[in-house]
Amino acid sequence: MGTYDFRGTLEGAFTAHTKFDAHAGELHAIAYYPTWDHVRHLVVDPAGRVSRTTRIPVADAPMIHDFALTENHVVVLDMPVTFDRAAAEGGAPVPYVWNTAHPARVGVVPRAGGAARWFEVDPVYYSHTLNAYEEGERIVVDMTNFPAPFLVAGNGSGGPGAVDTATLDRWTIDLRHGRVRTRTLDDRPQEFPRVNESLVSRRHRYGYTAAAAEMSQAYLTADGNPPDRAFGNALIKHDLLRHRTEVHHLPRGAAASEAVYVPRDPADPRAAEDDGYTVAYVHDPDRGASDLVILAAQDFTGEPVARIHLPGRVPLGFHGSWIPDA
Ligand SMILES: [Fe+2]
Repeated sequence: MGTYDFRGTLEGAFTAHTKFDAHAGELHAIAYYPTWDHVRHLVVDPAGRVSRTTRIPVADAPMIHDFALTENHVVVLDMPVTFDRAAAEGGAPVPYVWNTAHPARVGVVPRAGGAARWFEVDPVYYSHTLNAYEEGERIVVDMTNFPAPFLVAGNGSGGPGAVDTATLDRWTIDLRHGRVRTRTLDDRPQEFPRVNESLVSRRHRYGYTAAAAEMSQAYLTADGNPPDRAFGNALIKHDLLRHRTEVHHLPRGAAASEAVYVPRDPADPRAAEDDGYTVAYVHDPDRGASDLVILAAQDFTGEPVARIHLPGRVPLGFHGSWIPDA
């Protein structure tokens, strides 16, 4: 609807992915920019103003597309995809490269401001975080990761012949012992993880992802129009407590985008975490247009609640948010 500068309080870049903590009424962001020698943790107050900025020093201007938030901490994912001046001057649409000289590390910063504590990890490139939460002296981060090396805009991920898929992983940051344990929760190719947004920064049980056959293809073109084959014809509901998944299969050839979770009754504080719907754009190749497919989260493999035939194609891979009427 227009550009928003946070009532004049935003001094520079913002982010692709904010985190809204419904408990605190705060919107958080990690902003990065090619010429900065730091990234910025921004807190936006309920009046829509940037109320606090913390500068976190980082080397090499890394691409920080997403991050994670817990009740007391901000988790910064500083991976080896860094700004490349020559690529920028050459007109690359996404002038970032895999930089083997840049250590992969995870930073934990107090939400209230303060110094980051860094933990080295094996290099990957995360694409998106599902959510994060605290568990005693541990921080649990669920996210989708591409294998190293992740090569942006032209080269794919994993090198020639590699399987270019993101998996759903869990990183557990042990603050007491100063280490990060990483494991894969689901090794099927998937992307665009989403959670019940009322639980951002708090413990979640369920997550929703879109099957993504060759998602690195989407990052190859970087022209805003990724090919259908990058996407899959299934949506996945994860029960991370019981270690179970349910897969909603869509018709052959369909291409499913991000499944946004919508609570049935946002005003009901006792509602079950999955008492609601997922809403996703699904491209129908026979019709040459997209459907808005609505699933009941508690009947995930059942028939869709609704399949709304849109008059045109919605570009695949765009993120979305559900904004209810006031
Ligand atoms: Fe994104």
